[in-house]
Amino acid sequence: MVKLAPSILSADFSQLGAQARAAIEAGADWLHVDVMDGHFVPNITVGPLVVEALRPLADETGAWLDVHLMIEAPDRYLADFAHAGADLITVHVETCPHLHRTVQAIKGLGVRAGVTLNPATPLATLEEILPDVDLVLVMSVSPGFGGQSYIPGSTAKIRRLRGMLDAIGSSAWLEVDGGIKVSNAREVVEAGATVLVAGSAVFQGEGTIADRIAALRREIAAAERR
Ligand code: DX5
Ligand code: ZN
Repeated sequence: MVKLAPSILSADFSQLGAQARAAIEAGADWLHVDVMDGHFVPNITVGPLVVEALRPLADETGAWLDVHLMIEAPDRYLADFAHAGADLITVHVETCPHLHRTVQAIKGLGVRAGVTLNPATPLATLEEILPDVDLVLVMSVSPGFGGQSYIPGSTAKIRRLRGMLDAIGSSAWLEVDGGIKVSNAREVVEAGATVLVAGSAVFQGEGTIADRIAALRREIAAAERR
């Protein structure tokens, strides 16, 4: 079953709890929390406090808190995010000169470990770490902002990563983040994604959060039936 992980970055932060709950009740599996530091990416967003604030809702509903760290030297903050209640912590290969050590540190905190890479970073940079991770995230926009357009070449990258994971018998999640819409969700799942992040497609646009999640789910289901 392909999972849907709404990115709270596009939610109305004055109603974060209510909007996160609405997304989960409409069928979202995980809540994707985009952490940005103004250094690795130009934008500044949220930190462990927001993860902690969402933890009771996650406990109540069974949704996972999927934390995407777009920050320099993430090792400094792994314990803070783990203690705040992250279920998954994903780091960028571009920020981790000792990626194996970082992945081990995340797991040592009792949290599932993910790795990710910018659109211009080749998959080869992840080859050695693939057997050790619980999740690989393909960025399909340059990280930093919600609401950007999906980079078309990402689909071929997802397909190649699917091949690499299958070749080593890995059951790691293959997550895709950036510009996911009703119009491309099917293509991304067909290429091999097992988790779709969607920010603006869930929290902005016509209709309700539930309507928009249902529309994404229909596309995902169509791809799964193939
Ligand atoms: C981009 C973030 C994404 C983003 C997704 O830097 O990592 O999670 O918020 O938003 P949409 O779905 O609007 O591209
Ligand atoms: Zn993200």
